[in-house]
Amino acid sequence: MGFKRISPQRRRLQVWAAGLWVAGWAVCSAAWAAGPVPPAADDIATGAQLAAKHCASCHGATGQGASTDFPNLAGQNEKYLAKQLRDFASGQRDSTVMDMKAAVLSECSIRAVSRYYQSQTPKVAPAKDPMLANAGAFVYERGNPYTGLPACVSCHGTGGRGNAELPRLAGQNPLYIERQLKKFVDRSRVDESAVMNVIASRMSEIEMKSVVEYLGAMK
Ligand code: HEC
Ligand code: HEC
Repeated sequence: MGFKRISPQRRRLQVWAAGLWVAGWAVCSAAWAAGPVPPAADDIATGAQLAAKHCASCHGATGQGASTDFPNLAGQNEKYLAKQLRDFASGQRDSTVMDMKAAVLSECSIRAVSRYYQSQTPKVAPAKDPMLANAGAFVYERGNPYTGLPACVSCHGTGGRGNAELPRLAGQNPLYIERQLKKFVDRSRVDESAVMNVIASRMSEIEMKSVVEYLGAMK
């Protein structure tokens, strides 16, 4: 078996394409390193187009999940979103549908679409069961001091906004959050820190149900 012969033209084209890719990446990196400044208008516009074409059927054009099967992305922190997309693409985070979706996105597209979804305003509905949500408020703010469950607020922040590395939980679809907590328990979702695996494993059923009810209605 010989090597496939590549014509000089084709070789030049490949080198040129690789150069373009590196140049594109450098432009994205510069924009990224600029930090939490208002993103360039064309980034948002590119992100909006990508979202409309590739993501809206499940996550909605403005980041409201089309059904309880899909997480809301509106207002989610862009660095967190970008990291999850990279994790889906690398297989660090497993989801049949998202692994395929993320694998075809370039680094620039990941950043543009993440910026776009962060710029959208979440729509939040009131809790269906306010008493359950009240119990969840305690879990969120104080954890469970009797079992050593840490308070979610200590990482996810006041008002559930998260930060660059940590996800926003406010207004997230409760069934999605509950499924993720269960995935952390059975370790079908593990990030490098594995911190949520330890935390979710300490949670009782009522703690999970109540905290997701509370977070889903948090504005
Ligand atoms: C066919 C439906 C579908 C499409 C289309 C889709 N997704 Fe998803 N997405 C999902 C599902 C289902 C999950 C939850 C995966 C899990 O359980 O871990 C998800 C999860 C995510 C997450 C993780 C959210 C979080 O809070 O951790 C991100 C980010 C994401 N999708 C971004 C995108 C982007 C960007 C696109 C378009 C390029 C897209 N998705 C297209 C179904 C879809
Ligand atoms: C020590 C810090 C820390 C504490 C305390 C903490 N979390 Fe997290 N949480 C994280 C990190 C880090 C991630 C991101 C994990 C990843 O990227 O996979 C995360 C992710 C999550 C996610 C996934 C969100 C998404 O959009 O997919 C949920 C749900 C969650 N945490 C719920 C909770 C709840 C509920 C509590 C309180 C009982 C809590 N966390 C306490 C650090 C923490």
